[in-house]
Amino acid sequence: AWLSVAEARTVLLASPRSFCAGVERAIEVVEHLLDTRGGPIYVRKQIVHNSHVVSGLERRGAVFVDELDEVPEGATVVFSAHGVSPAVHAEAAGRGLEVIDATCPLVTKVHAEARRFAARGDTVVLIGHAGHEEVEGTLGEAPGRTVLVEDVADALRLEVPDPGRVSYLTQTTLAVDETAEVVQALRERFPGLRGPASDDICYATTNRQNALAAIAGEADLVLVVGSPNSSNSVRLVELARRHETAAHLIDDARDIRPEWLAGVRVVGLTAGASAPPHLVDEVITALSGLGRVRTVQRRLTEETIRFTLPSAAR
Ligand code: F3S
Repeated sequence: AWLSVAEARTVLLASPRSFCAGVERAIEVVEHLLDTRGGPIYVRKQIVHNSHVVSGLERRGAVFVDELDEVPEGATVVFSAHGVSPAVHAEAAGRGLEVIDATCPLVTKVHAEARRFAARGDTVVLIGHAGHEEVEGTLGEAPGRTVLVEDVADALRLEVPDPGRVSYLTQTTLAVDETAEVVQALRERFPGLRGPASDDICYATTNRQNALAAIAGEADLVLVVGSPNSSNSVRLVELARRHETAAHLIDDARDIRPEWLAGVRVVGLTAGASAPPHLVDEVITALSGLGRVRTVQRRLTEETIRFTLPSAAR
């Protein structure tokens, strides 16, 4: 139904949103290789967890594989932004592959912490989601010494060989508030718990959560642009729902169901770190087709961080 001019719907745009520096870098690596060497360029796993990014690069000649045995001997393979375990690096070397590593530097930092904490004899508690590629990679740094904890319940029943020697790490894309609760539960069990300087949740995850938290209470509906396998995007949907606001994850504007908008005056809009900015513009266009909209941006902070490209991709 049409809204009158006076009743224009407000789209509250959370900012920062959409691409982070690690995602931009990973995409640029693949684009650079396609431009300078031409396809096929093999990429292990989705370069970033977004269906539009992956299909766009596929059209240009990128070939996404699940495992290295699908890459021809001697070919070039890009490792995705989520990082890989040392075992995967070893397998690539064994097959004579040229590796170009697009792992986000902030994930690499967590891997280094895992090695350091394990080397001092600690049990390393990794807080994260089972099965996520980043978690598999980080677990692989010290497989005998690392245990995965997904939530407070896991933390409360964790048994370790020496309760005086426990460190924790986290996946980079977790909910800041929930993770603090898990760390608190670990600290109560293991008072000598040591960890990274703050936590390992990256600046982009934190900023996107803070930006959405600032508008979620004002919105009648929150739309998060992102793919279902994008951890930080799913966390944004959950955050909006913790603010008691209806929220949906959409891969693009086509996923919007008009009935979601019934009675909705204010739509909160954001995008996960792997979702391209143009998809957000398309959502605004689609919403405009469902009635007059007024767009208001709430910028909480400016992001200026950039990561240099790996030397093979410069
Ligand atoms: Fe890196 Fe954080 Fe983006 S870990 S890939 S900057 S979401």
